[in-house]
Amino acid sequence: MAEKGRTPRPAAPSAPDAAADIGVEARIAAGLLLNAALERRNGLDETLASPALSSLPAPDRAFARATAMAALRRLGEIDQILDRRFSKRPPEPVMTILRIALAQTLVLETPAFAAVSTAVKLAERDAKARPYKNLVNAVLRGIGRDGPGLTTAEANLPDWIAARWKAAYGEPGLAALALAGRDEPPTDLTLKPGMDPADVAAAVEGEVLPGGNVRTGRRGDVALWPGFEDGGWWVQDAAAAAPARLLDVKPGETALDLCAAPGGKTLQLAAAGAEVTALDRSASRLKRLDANLKRTGLEARVIAVPAEDWEEPDQFDAVLLDAPCTSTGTYRRNPEVLRATRPAEVAKLADVQHRLLDVAAERVKPGGRLVYCTCSLEREEGETQIIAFLRRNPAFKTVAADPGAVGAPAEALTPEGWLRILPSMWAERGGVDGFFAALMVRED
Ligand SMILES: C[S@@+](CC[C@H](N)C(=O)[O-])C[C@H]1O[C@@H](n2cnc3c(N)ncnc32)[C@H](O)[C@@H]1O
Repeated sequence: MAEKGRTPRPAAPSAPDAAADIGVEARIAAGLLLNAALERRNGLDETLASPALSSLPAPDRAFARATAMAALRRLGEIDQILDRRFSKRPPEPVMTILRIALAQTLVLETPAFAAVSTAVKLAERDAKARPYKNLVNAVLRGIGRDGPGLTTAEANLPDWIAARWKAAYGEPGLAALALAGRDEPPTDLTLKPGMDPADVAAAVEGEVLPGGNVRTGRRGDVALWPGFEDGGWWVQDAAAAAPARLLDVKPGETALDLCAAPGGKTLQLAAAGAEVTALDRSASRLKRLDANLKRTGLEARVIAVPAEDWEEPDQFDAVLLDAPCTSTGTYRRNPEVLRATRPAEVAKLADVQHRLLDVAAERVKPGGRLVYCTCSLEREEGETQIIAFLRRNPAFKTVAADPGAVGAPAEALTPEGWLRILPSMWAERGGVDGFFAALMVRED
Protein backbone atom coordinates (compact mmCIF):
# COMPACT_ATOMS: atom_id res chain seq x y z
CA MET A 1 0.00 0.00 0.00
CA ALA A 2 1.55 3.32 -0.98
CA GLU A 3 1.50 6.11 1.56
CA LYS A 4 0.89 9.57 0.16
CA GLY A 5 4.08 11.63 0.34
CA ARG A 6 6.00 9.28 2.61
CA THR A 7 8.28 6.33 2.25
CA PRO A 8 6.76 3.48 4.24
CA ARG A 9 9.06 1.49 6.48
CA PRO A 10 9.48 -2.07 5.24
CA ALA A 11 6.83 -4.36 6.68
CA ALA A 12 8.17 -6.72 9.29
CA PRO A 13 8.19 -10.33 8.12
CA SER A 14 5.79 -11.54 10.79
CA ALA A 15 3.99 -14.21 8.78
CA PRO A 16 5.64 -17.57 8.41
CA ASP A 17 7.55 -17.80 5.11
CA ALA A 18 5.68 -20.98 4.38
CA ALA A 19 2.33 -19.15 4.25
CA ALA A 20 1.58 -20.78 0.91
CA ASP A 21 1.39 -24.16 2.65
CA ILE A 22 -0.92 -22.92 5.40
CA GLY A 23 -4.50 -23.89 4.81
CA VAL A 24 -8.06 -22.67 4.99
CA GLU A 25 -8.47 -23.40 8.73
CA ALA A 26 -5.79 -20.84 9.62
CA ARG A 27 -7.53 -18.23 7.46
CA ILE A 28 -10.88 -18.98 9.13
CA ALA A 29 -9.15 -18.52 12.48
CA ALA A 30 -7.71 -15.20 11.28
CA GLY A 31 -11.22 -14.02 10.42
CA LEU A 32 -12.52 -15.12 13.83
CA LEU A 33 -9.73 -13.19 15.54
CA LEU A 34 -10.27 -10.09 13.43
CA ASN A 35 -13.99 -9.99 14.12
CA ALA A 36 -13.62 -10.73 17.84
CA ALA A 37 -11.14 -7.84 18.11
CA LEU A 38 -13.52 -5.52 16.28
CA GLU A 39 -16.49 -6.55 18.40
CA ARG A 40 -15.24 -6.39 21.95
CA ARG A 41 -12.36 -5.46 24.29
CA ASN A 42 -10.23 -8.54 25.02
CA GLY A 43 -11.96 -10.32 22.12
CA LEU A 44 -8.62 -11.05 20.45
CA ASP A 45 -7.02 -12.59 23.55
CA GLU A 46 -10.15 -14.54 24.48
CA THR A 47 -10.40 -15.99 20.98
CA LEU A 48 -6.69 -16.83 20.89
CA ALA A 49 -7.25 -18.88 24.05
CA SER A 50 -10.49 -20.49 22.80
CA PRO A 51 -10.67 -24.16 21.70
CA ALA A 52 -11.16 -23.06 18.06
CA LEU A 53 -7.67 -21.57 18.07
CA SER A 54 -5.84 -23.69 20.62
CA SER A 55 -6.63 -26.88 18.67
CA LEU A 56 -4.77 -25.54 15.59
CA PRO A 57 -1.13 -26.51 14.96
CA ALA A 58 1.29 -23.83 16.21
CA PRO A 59 2.30 -22.52 12.73
CA ASP A 60 -1.38 -22.10 11.77
CA ARG A 61 -2.09 -20.27 15.02
CA ALA A 62 0.88 -17.97 14.52
CA PHE A 63 -0.19 -17.30 10.93
CA ALA A 64 -3.79 -16.59 12.02
CA ARG A 65 -2.62 -14.13 14.66
CA ALA A 66 -0.17 -12.36 12.37
CA THR A 67 -2.82 -12.04 9.66
CA ALA A 68 -5.49 -10.72 12.02
CA MET A 69 -3.03 -8.21 13.51
CA ALA A 70 -2.00 -7.02 10.04
CA ALA A 71 -5.66 -6.64 9.06
CA LEU A 72 -6.36 -4.68 12.26
CA ARG A 73 -3.39 -2.36 11.76
CA ARG A 74 -4.30 -1.58 8.13
CA LEU A 75 -8.08 -1.98 8.34
CA GLY A 76 -8.86 1.53 7.11
CA GLU A 77 -6.45 1.25 4.20
CA ILE A 78 -7.70 -2.23 3.28
CA ASP A 79 -11.29 -0.95 3.30
CA GLN A 80 -10.29 2.07 1.16
CA ILE A 81 -8.85 -0.33 -1.43
CA LEU A 82 -11.86 -2.63 -1.32
CA ASP A 83 -14.51 0.09 -1.38
CA ARG A 84 -13.16 1.35 -4.71
CA ARG A 85 -14.13 -2.00 -6.20
CA PHE A 86 -17.83 -2.05 -5.15
CA SER A 87 -20.82 0.16 -5.74
CA LYS A 88 -22.26 -1.40 -2.57
CA ARG A 89 -20.35 -3.28 0.14
CA PRO A 90 -21.00 -7.05 0.22
CA PRO A 91 -22.17 -8.65 3.50
CA GLU A 92 -19.76 -8.77 6.48
CA PRO A 93 -18.66 -12.43 6.04
CA VAL A 94 -17.47 -11.52 2.53
CA MET A 95 -15.71 -8.41 3.79
CA THR A 96 -13.92 -10.55 6.40
CA ILE A 97 -12.68 -12.95 3.71
CA LEU A 98 -11.45 -10.06 1.56
CA ARG A 99 -9.81 -8.22 4.47
CA ILE A 100 -7.95 -11.37 5.54
CA ALA A 101 -6.79 -12.00 1.97
CA LEU A 102 -5.53 -8.41 1.52
CA ALA A 103 -3.75 -8.45 4.87
CA GLN A 104 -1.83 -11.42 3.49
CA THR A 105 -0.96 -10.08 0.05
CA LEU A 106 -0.40 -6.41 0.88
CA VAL A 107 1.13 -6.58 4.35
CA LEU A 108 2.53 -10.05 4.97
CA GLU A 109 3.63 -10.66 1.39
CA THR A 110 1.93 -14.03 1.21
CA PRO A 111 2.02 -15.28 -2.40
CA ALA A 112 -1.12 -14.00 -4.17
CA PHE A 113 -2.08 -17.43 -5.52
CA ALA A 114 -2.27 -18.82 -1.97
CA ALA A 115 -4.23 -15.86 -0.56
CA VAL A 116 -6.71 -15.78 -3.46
CA SER A 117 -7.35 -19.51 -3.74
CA THR A 118 -7.89 -19.89 0.02
CA ALA A 119 -10.20 -16.84 0.01
CA VAL A 120 -12.34 -18.47 -2.67
CA LYS A 121 -12.41 -21.72 -0.66
CA LEU A 122 -13.46 -19.76 2.42
CA ALA A 123 -16.33 -18.22 0.44
CA GLU A 124 -17.40 -21.68 -0.73
CA ARG A 125 -17.54 -22.93 2.86
CA ASP A 126 -19.67 -20.08 4.23
CA ALA A 127 -23.38 -20.15 3.26
CA LYS A 128 -23.63 -16.34 3.44
CA ALA A 129 -20.48 -15.77 1.40
CA ARG A 130 -21.02 -18.56 -1.17
CA PRO A 131 -23.10 -16.40 -3.58
CA TYR A 132 -20.17 -13.92 -3.63
CA LYS A 133 -17.50 -16.48 -4.51
CA ASN A 134 -16.93 -15.04 -7.98
CA LEU A 135 -16.84 -11.49 -6.60
CA VAL A 136 -14.14 -12.49 -4.08
CA ASN A 137 -12.09 -13.99 -6.88
CA ALA A 138 -12.60 -11.02 -9.24
CA VAL A 139 -11.90 -8.33 -6.61
CA LEU A 140 -8.69 -9.97 -5.37
CA ARG A 141 -7.42 -10.67 -8.88
CA GLY A 142 -8.30 -7.12 -9.91
CA ILE A 143 -6.29 -5.66 -7.01
CA GLY A 144 -3.42 -8.01 -7.83
CA ARG A 145 -3.47 -6.87 -11.44
CA ASP A 146 -4.04 -3.11 -10.98
CA GLY A 147 -2.23 -2.62 -7.66
CA PRO A 148 -3.85 -1.32 -4.47
CA GLY A 149 -3.73 2.41 -5.33
CA LEU A 150 -2.96 5.19 -2.88
CA THR A 151 -4.10 4.91 0.71
CA THR A 152 -3.71 7.08 3.79
CA ALA A 153 -2.49 5.82 7.15
CA GLU A 154 -5.03 8.10 8.90
CA ALA A 155 -7.77 5.86 7.50
CA ASN A 156 -6.62 3.19 9.98
CA LEU A 157 -7.75 5.32 12.93
CA PRO A 158 -11.42 5.35 13.99
CA ASP A 159 -12.87 8.82 13.33
CA TRP A 160 -13.34 9.74 16.98
CA ILE A 161 -9.74 8.80 17.81
CA ALA A 162 -8.42 10.78 14.84
CA ALA A 163 -10.45 13.82 15.92
CA ARG A 164 -9.09 13.62 19.48
CA TRP A 165 -5.46 13.17 18.41
CA LYS A 166 -5.73 15.99 15.91
CA ALA A 167 -7.08 18.27 18.64
CA ALA A 168 -4.33 17.20 21.07
CA TYR A 169 -1.31 16.87 18.76
CA GLY A 170 -2.20 18.87 15.62
CA GLU A 171 -2.55 17.76 12.01
CA PRO A 172 1.13 16.78 11.48
CA GLY A 173 1.10 15.05 14.86
CA LEU A 174 -1.94 13.01 13.84
CA ALA A 175 -0.30 12.01 10.54
CA ALA A 176 2.83 10.88 12.37
CA LEU A 177 0.82 8.92 14.93
CA ALA A 178 -1.13 7.18 12.16
CA LEU A 179 2.08 6.24 10.40
CA ALA A 180 3.57 4.88 13.63
CA GLY A 181 0.81 2.27 13.79
CA ARG A 182 1.15 0.79 10.31
CA ASP A 183 3.88 -1.78 10.87
CA GLU A 184 4.51 -4.46 13.44
CA PRO A 185 6.79 -2.89 16.08
CA PRO A 186 10.08 -4.34 17.27
CA THR A 187 10.36 -5.95 20.71
CA ASP A 188 12.19 -4.22 23.56
CA LEU A 189 13.87 -5.88 26.51
CA THR A 190 14.65 -4.31 29.89
CA LEU A 191 17.81 -5.68 31.47
CA LYS A 192 18.60 -6.53 35.06
CA PRO A 193 21.42 -4.41 36.49
CA GLY A 194 24.74 -6.10 35.79
CA MET A 195 23.66 -7.43 32.40
CA ASP A 196 25.76 -6.11 29.52
CA PRO A 197 23.38 -4.55 26.95
CA ALA A 198 25.87 -5.21 24.14
CA ASP A 199 25.95 -8.95 25.00
CA VAL A 200 22.15 -9.20 25.13
CA ALA A 201 21.85 -7.23 21.87
CA ALA A 202 24.30 -9.61 20.21
CA ALA A 203 22.39 -12.66 21.46
CA VAL A 204 19.02 -11.47 20.12
CA GLU A 205 20.44 -9.68 17.04
CA GLY A 206 19.25 -6.34 18.37
CA GLU A 207 20.50 -2.83 19.14
CA VAL A 208 21.00 -0.98 22.41
CA LEU A 209 18.63 1.97 22.86
CA PRO A 210 19.48 5.17 24.76
CA GLY A 211 18.57 4.25 28.33
CA GLY A 212 19.85 0.70 28.00
CA ASN A 213 16.87 -1.26 26.66
CA VAL A 214 17.68 -3.72 23.88
CA ARG A 215 15.51 -3.59 20.76
CA THR A 216 15.15 -6.52 18.39
CA GLY A 217 13.18 -7.29 15.25
CA ARG A 218 13.13 -10.95 16.25
CA ARG A 219 9.70 -12.64 16.18
CA GLY A 220 8.17 -15.72 17.69
CA ASP A 221 7.96 -17.19 21.17
CA VAL A 222 10.12 -15.08 23.52
CA ALA A 223 10.49 -18.04 25.87
CA LEU A 224 12.63 -19.69 23.18
CA TRP A 225 15.01 -16.73 22.75
CA PRO A 226 18.61 -17.06 23.94
CA GLY A 227 18.96 -15.87 27.53
CA PHE A 228 15.27 -16.09 28.45
CA GLU A 229 15.74 -18.95 30.91
CA ASP A 230 18.64 -17.11 32.58
CA GLY A 231 16.24 -14.35 33.63
CA GLY A 232 18.52 -11.42 32.87
CA TRP A 233 15.83 -9.49 30.97
CA TRP A 234 12.10 -9.15 30.43
CA VAL A 235 9.98 -7.84 27.57
CA GLN A 236 8.98 -4.21 28.08
CA ASP A 237 8.57 -1.38 25.58
CA ALA A 238 11.26 1.27 26.02
CA ALA A 239 8.58 3.88 26.83
CA ALA A 240 7.01 1.61 29.45
CA ALA A 241 10.39 1.38 31.17
CA ALA A 242 10.63 5.16 31.68
CA PRO A 243 8.10 5.68 34.55
CA ALA A 244 9.78 3.29 37.01
CA ARG A 245 13.17 4.85 36.19
CA LEU A 246 11.63 8.25 36.92
CA LEU A 247 10.88 7.07 40.46
CA ASP A 248 14.64 6.42 40.82
CA VAL A 249 14.41 4.04 43.79
CA LYS A 250 17.56 3.38 45.77
CA PRO A 251 18.63 0.10 47.41
CA GLY A 252 16.81 -0.34 50.71
CA GLU A 253 14.04 2.15 49.97
CA THR A 254 10.45 0.98 50.32
CA ALA A 255 8.37 1.09 47.13
CA LEU A 256 4.70 0.44 46.44
CA ASP A 257 3.43 -0.51 42.98
CA LEU A 258 -0.33 -0.03 43.24
CA CYS A 259 -1.45 -1.48 39.88
CA ALA A 260 1.33 -3.93 39.30
CA ALA A 261 0.24 -6.71 36.96
CA PRO A 262 1.59 -8.11 34.72
CA GLY A 263 4.61 -6.57 36.40
CA GLY A 264 7.28 -5.05 34.17
CA LYS A 265 7.58 -2.01 36.42
CA THR A 266 7.60 -4.08 39.63
CA LEU A 267 10.57 -6.00 38.22
CA GLN A 268 12.38 -2.71 37.55
CA LEU A 269 11.78 -1.47 41.11
CA ALA A 270 12.92 -4.78 42.59
CA ALA A 271 15.96 -4.89 40.29
CA ALA A 272 16.95 -1.42 41.52
CA GLY A 273 17.17 -2.84 45.04
CA ALA A 274 13.97 -1.49 46.58
CA GLU A 275 11.84 -3.42 49.04
CA VAL A 276 8.78 -3.70 46.84
CA THR A 277 5.12 -4.30 47.63
CA ALA A 278 3.08 -4.97 44.49
CA LEU A 279 -0.72 -4.79 44.54
CA ASP A 280 -3.20 -5.55 41.80
CA ARG A 281 -6.88 -6.29 41.90
CA SER A 282 -6.48 -9.12 39.38
CA ALA A 283 -5.09 -12.35 40.83
CA SER A 284 -4.97 -13.93 37.37
CA ARG A 285 -2.89 -11.06 35.92
CA LEU A 286 -0.54 -11.31 38.93
CA LYS A 287 0.36 -14.89 37.93
CA ARG A 288 2.55 -13.45 35.16
CA LEU A 289 4.31 -11.26 37.74
CA ASP A 290 4.91 -14.28 39.97
CA ALA A 291 6.35 -16.22 37.02
CA ASN A 292 8.60 -13.32 36.03
CA LEU A 293 9.85 -12.82 39.61
CA LYS A 294 10.71 -16.50 39.73
CA ARG A 295 12.48 -16.45 36.36
CA THR A 296 14.49 -13.32 37.13
CA GLY A 297 15.27 -14.25 40.74
CA LEU A 298 13.91 -10.88 41.91
CA GLU A 299 11.80 -10.37 45.02
CA ALA A 300 8.60 -8.48 45.76
CA ARG A 301 5.70 -8.90 48.15
CA VAL A 302 2.73 -9.53 45.86
CA ILE A 303 -0.85 -9.00 47.07
CA ALA A 304 -4.05 -9.48 45.05
CA VAL A 305 -6.28 -6.69 46.34
CA PRO A 306 -7.88 -3.50 44.98
CA ALA A 307 -5.59 -0.63 46.00
CA GLU A 308 -8.37 1.21 47.80
CA ASP A 309 -9.19 -1.88 49.94
CA TRP A 310 -5.66 -2.64 51.11
CA GLU A 311 -5.84 -2.21 54.84
CA GLU A 312 -2.23 -2.26 56.01
CA PRO A 313 -1.34 1.23 57.21
CA ASP A 314 2.09 1.52 55.57
CA GLN A 315 3.51 4.55 53.80
CA PHE A 316 6.41 4.29 51.33
CA ASP A 317 9.46 6.19 50.12
CA ALA A 318 8.32 5.71 46.54
CA VAL A 319 4.87 4.98 45.08
CA LEU A 320 4.11 4.08 41.48
CA LEU A 321 0.61 4.34 40.06
CA ASP A 322 0.45 2.86 36.55
CA ALA A 323 -3.29 3.33 36.42
CA PRO A 324 -5.84 1.37 34.39
CA CYS A 325 -6.55 3.37 31.23
CA THR A 326 -7.84 3.15 27.68
CA SER A 327 -4.32 2.04 26.61
CA THR A 328 -4.63 3.99 23.37
CA GLY A 329 -0.84 4.55 23.43
CA THR A 330 -0.22 0.84 22.84
CA TYR A 331 -1.90 0.64 19.42
CA ARG A 332 1.39 -0.26 17.69
CA ARG A 333 1.43 -3.55 19.62
CA ASN A 334 -2.30 -3.88 20.25
CA PRO A 335 -4.09 -2.34 17.26
CA GLU A 336 -7.35 -3.71 18.62
CA VAL A 337 -7.39 -1.13 21.44
CA LEU A 338 -8.41 1.57 18.98
CA ARG A 339 -11.36 -0.50 17.78
CA ALA A 340 -12.45 -1.81 21.17
CA THR A 341 -12.28 1.47 23.11
CA ARG A 342 -15.53 3.43 23.25
CA PRO A 343 -15.50 7.22 23.62
CA ALA A 344 -17.38 7.05 26.95
CA GLU A 345 -14.60 4.92 28.47
CA VAL A 346 -12.20 7.87 28.53
CA ALA A 347 -14.29 9.75 31.11
CA LYS A 348 -15.10 6.55 33.02
CA LEU A 349 -11.44 5.60 33.36
CA ALA A 350 -10.48 9.19 34.19
CA ASP A 351 -12.77 8.88 37.24
CA VAL A 352 -11.01 5.68 38.30
CA GLN A 353 -7.59 7.35 37.84
CA HIS A 354 -8.69 10.35 39.93
CA ARG A 355 -9.76 8.01 42.75
CA LEU A 356 -6.60 5.89 42.57
CA LEU A 357 -4.37 8.98 42.56
CA ASP A 358 -5.85 10.01 45.90
CA VAL A 359 -5.31 6.49 47.25
CA ALA A 360 -1.70 6.66 46.01
CA ALA A 361 -1.09 10.06 47.64
CA GLU A 362 -2.01 8.69 51.07
CA ARG A 363 0.63 5.99 50.70
CA VAL A 364 3.53 8.41 50.17
CA LYS A 365 5.70 9.24 53.22
CA PRO A 366 6.41 12.92 53.84
CA GLY A 367 9.46 13.62 51.64
CA GLY A 368 8.60 10.60 49.46
CA ARG A 369 7.97 10.42 45.70
CA LEU A 370 4.99 9.53 43.55
CA VAL A 371 5.01 8.64 39.86
CA TYR A 372 1.72 8.60 37.99
CA CYS A 373 1.64 7.11 34.52
CA THR A 374 -0.73 5.74 31.90
CA CYS A 375 -0.20 4.20 28.47
CA SER A 376 -2.92 6.44 27.03
CA LEU A 377 -2.63 9.27 24.52
CA GLU A 378 -5.76 10.94 25.93
CA ARG A 379 -5.03 14.09 27.90
CA GLU A 380 -7.84 13.36 30.37
CA GLU A 381 -5.83 10.32 31.47
CA GLY A 382 -2.55 12.24 31.68
CA GLU A 383 -2.00 15.99 31.91
CA THR A 384 -5.54 16.79 33.09
CA GLN A 385 -5.26 14.25 35.94
CA ILE A 386 -2.05 15.78 37.26
CA ILE A 387 -3.27 19.37 36.98
CA ALA A 388 -6.33 18.44 39.07
CA PHE A 389 -4.31 16.27 41.48
CA LEU A 390 -1.81 19.04 42.25
CA ARG A 391 -4.71 21.40 42.96
CA ARG A 392 -6.33 18.89 45.34
CA ASN A 393 -3.00 18.00 47.01
CA PRO A 394 -0.88 21.13 47.54
CA ALA A 395 1.72 19.12 49.49
CA PHE A 396 2.78 17.50 46.18
CA LYS A 397 5.02 19.30 43.68
CA THR A 398 6.19 18.25 40.23
CA VAL A 399 9.85 17.31 39.91
CA ALA A 400 10.96 17.92 36.32
CA ALA A 401 11.87 14.74 34.48
CA ASP A 402 15.21 14.28 32.74
CA PRO A 403 14.23 12.27 29.63
CA GLY A 404 17.83 11.25 28.90
CA ALA A 405 18.22 9.77 32.37
CA VAL A 406 15.14 7.56 32.04
CA GLY A 407 15.61 6.40 28.44
CA ALA A 408 12.84 8.59 26.99
CA PRO A 409 13.06 10.69 23.80
CA ALA A 410 14.19 14.27 24.59
CA GLU A 411 11.14 15.74 22.83
CA ALA A 412 8.86 13.92 25.30
CA LEU A 413 9.54 16.54 28.00
CA THR A 414 6.57 18.90 28.48
CA PRO A 415 6.92 22.52 29.69
CA GLU A 416 5.56 21.36 33.07
CA GLY A 417 8.36 18.80 33.47
CA TRP A 418 6.22 15.74 32.69
CA LEU A 419 6.84 13.14 30.01
CA ARG A 420 4.44 12.83 27.08
CA ILE A 421 5.97 10.04 25.01
CA LEU A 422 4.36 9.65 21.59
CA PRO A 423 4.55 6.53 19.37
CA SER A 424 5.79 8.78 16.57
CA MET A 425 8.95 9.62 18.54
CA TRP A 426 12.13 7.68 17.69
CA ALA A 427 10.39 6.93 14.38
CA GLU A 428 13.69 6.13 12.69
CA ARG A 429 14.25 3.37 15.26
CA GLY A 430 10.73 1.93 14.97
CA GLY A 431 8.84 4.16 17.44
CA VAL A 432 7.81 3.61 21.06
CA ASP A 433 4.55 3.07 22.90
CA GLY A 434 2.64 6.17 23.99
CA PHE A 435 2.99 7.02 27.68
CA PHE A 436 2.33 9.90 30.04
CA ALA A 437 4.40 10.05 33.24
CA ALA A 438 4.76 12.63 36.01
CA LEU A 439 7.09 12.57 39.04
CA MET A 440 5.96 14.39 42.17
CA VAL A 441 7.45 14.81 45.62
CA ARG A 442 5.43 15.12 48.84
CA GLU A 443 6.87 18.08 50.66
CA ASP A 444 5.26 17.49 54.07
C1 LIG B 1 -1.81 -0.52 33.14
S1 LIG B 1 -2.04 -2.00 33.96
C2 LIG B 1 -0.60 -2.09 34.94
C3 LIG B 1 0.61 -2.57 34.21
C4 LIG B 1 1.79 -2.86 35.11
N1 LIG B 1 2.12 -1.75 35.97
C5 LIG B 1 3.04 -3.27 34.37
O1 LIG B 1 3.99 -2.50 34.24
O2 LIG B 1 3.08 -4.41 33.91
C6 LIG B 1 -3.25 -1.57 35.12
C7 LIG B 1 -3.52 -2.63 36.18
O3 LIG B 1 -4.37 -2.05 37.15
C8 LIG B 1 -5.11 -3.08 37.75
N2 LIG B 1 -6.19 -2.43 38.51
C9 LIG B 1 -7.32 -1.84 38.05
N3 LIG B 1 -8.01 -1.30 39.05
C10 LIG B 1 -7.30 -1.52 40.18
C11 LIG B 1 -7.48 -1.21 41.55
N4 LIG B 1 -8.56 -0.55 41.97
N5 LIG B 1 -6.55 -1.61 42.43
C12 LIG B 1 -5.45 -2.30 42.03
N6 LIG B 1 -5.24 -2.65 40.76
C13 LIG B 1 -6.14 -2.25 39.83
C14 LIG B 1 -5.51 -3.94 36.58
O4 LIG B 1 -5.81 -5.25 37.01
C15 LIG B 1 -4.24 -3.88 35.72
O5 LIG B 1 -3.43 -5.01 35.97
